[in-house]
Amino acid sequence: MRTTRMSRVTAAAALAALLAVSVTACGQEARGGSRYKPAGGKGGVIGLAMPTKASERWIADGENMAEQFEKAGYETDLQYGDDKVENQIAQIENMITKGRRLLVVAAIDGSALTEVLRRAEDAGIPVISYDRLIMGSEHVDYYASFDNERVGELEARYIVDKLKLGKPAKGASASYNIELFAGSPDDNNTTYFWNGAMKVLKPYLDSGQLVVRSKQTRMNQATTLRWDGGTAQKRMDDLISKNYGEERVDAVLSPYDGISIGIISALKSAGYGSKARPLPIVTGQDAELASVKSIIRGEQTQTVFKDTRKLAAQAVKMGDAVLNGRKPEVNNTTDYHNGKKAVPAFLLDPVSIDKANTELLVREGYFTAGQLR
Ligand code: GAL
Repeated sequence: MRTTRMSRVTAAAALAALLAVSVTACGQEARGGSRYKPAGGKGGVIGLAMPTKASERWIADGENMAEQFEKAGYETDLQYGDDKVENQIAQIENMITKGRRLLVVAAIDGSALTEVLRRAEDAGIPVISYDRLIMGSEHVDYYASFDNERVGELEARYIVDKLKLGKPAKGASASYNIELFAGSPDDNNTTYFWNGAMKVLKPYLDSGQLVVRSKQTRMNQATTLRWDGGTAQKRMDDLISKNYGEERVDAVLSPYDGISIGIISALKSAGYGSKARPLPIVTGQDAELASVKSIIRGEQTQTVFKDTRKLAAQAVKMGDAVLNGRKPEVNNTTDYHNGKKAVPAFLLDPVSIDKANTELLVREGYFTAGQLR
């Protein structure tokens, strides 16, 4: 599917853009030190390659970026890859052929873009990696994301606090059953979420206060290809039927709302959700509307809010700077190594949400009060 948005640039703005081009074209190397020789100034089309429309967050990410790039004086070419790697590669190739000035990419498979990004490099088109780090390519200029390890920490910390586990202690009387889910194995974020969560959970797993009855404690046993809720539901069905007879599941670490919804469906089919057998703690991520409503209903327990408007704004600021020979603002230059280089990153702060603070989403204007009713 292809959506090209053309901004309504007034004649005056077009003239201003033209002037800006001629002013910035000379001297941008000196000011920004960029390895590109961008035409400078505003105008031109930005290619936005997003992974899927199956999740509302990526729809919002794409639309927010398109809107904000247009406000900043650019046009946009917004494409969704339908979670198919070959679609995304073809879309990016097309953007390169069409001479897009900048590519902003949220990869479906973080390691599948090396070839196509080489073509972008040959064409002198800068690349910003959006939310998910693109792996194995020198040609990733900047990365805009959230503190991904912190996301995992927030989920795990929530479980530990809710179960009132206190400090990890060998021989503590109470022990609880937990099952662990991870994201898509081809998404670099998956490891960060997992490591962040494990940093918090491991001492409790070691002390025996948390028990994984399935014994599936390694990330590669817990991943969920393409973050698919149906896949997570099947795995949870299986975990329950093989490991939980009389025993109860007390908590499930879930790294994404779509996965949480699948897990909750499996739990309900197995009889959870009654007074006698309440649903376990189920974490999540993205504050998607269905999950926030589920939290308000008392089903999903927690999610992590990552304001897509702020992430879009960051990517737009970065893009505008790169195109005009300025150095974008970054706050992390070491932690996001893609196998070829440490990609300079700007990381935003994620926020934990549960029933007690869903109104924050209304206060921030992320949802209306009506949407949450
Ligand atoms: C991750 C992203 C998460 C979630 C997930 C599934 O890369 O960081 O916020 O959206 O993909 O879409």
